Amino acid sequence: MGKQLRLDKLLADTGRWSRKEAKLLLKQGRVKVDGAVEKSGDRKVEPQLAVVTVDGEGLRWAEFRYLMLHKPGGVLTATEDRHQKTVLDLLPPDCRDLFPVGRLDKDTEGLLLLTDDGELAHHLLSPKHHVDKCYLACIEGEVDEADCAAFRSGIVLGDGTKCLPAELESLGAGKCLVTLREGKFHQVKRMLASRGKPVVGLKRLSMGTLRLDEGLKPGEFRPLTEAEETELKKL
Ligand code: URA
Repeated sequence: MGKQLRLDKLLADTGRWSRKEAKLLLKQGRVKVDGAVEKSGDRKVEPQLAVVTVDGEGLRWAEFRYLMLHKPGGVLTATEDRHQKTVLDLLPPDCRDLFPVGRLDKDTEGLLLLTDDGELAHHLLSPKHHVDKCYLACIEGEVDEADCAAFRSGIVLGDGTKCLPAELESLGAGKCLVTLREGKFHQVKRMLASRGKPVVGLKRLSMGTLRLDEGLKPGEFRPLTEAEETELKKL
């Protein structure tokens, strides 16, 4: 027999409902297991075998969870911190076992993927796998062709650290796009600072095929769609 899960956990694990909302759906008789209404969240089911529906719609059960968060500024990319608010504090308690894929600085905003799929996380972060991360940077000054060429050939940071070739695109005075495939500490800020263009604001727009949903306000999150999940796994 395969792994058995509580029905309320199974509903909440889809990311569509909190555990509390799942309990309400059950109480309202909207959940069926193998064709019969089930009102108890304690009911144990085998996710791969049981046919679970909510309002008649089949549930897509997945082994792992994937959430897209629009990280706001002022929040740490960590799973816990004694003093400061972390990205996990923005999620419901049921999501406490997720972890962020990569790190954004406290003051950086934008796309942050949270998951419990360690293998995918490793894949997305390893420079070996060439997964591009694209950032919108607000800067002092304006980047020029010499800056773009320096990014293309690989910036050497003040401490001698050599960066992989990266893309830099000017968006006019005060703004540019940076695309990297690695994630060194403060990398975008340090690369632009090395060219005399300090960063005053940073937002991650994409990671591989995954783009920040502009419908999400800072602090909001949603589960990845089936298409987003499939595309990401192709990488
Ligand atoms: N580069 C930075 O400097 N900061 C981030 O948060 C992400 C990339």
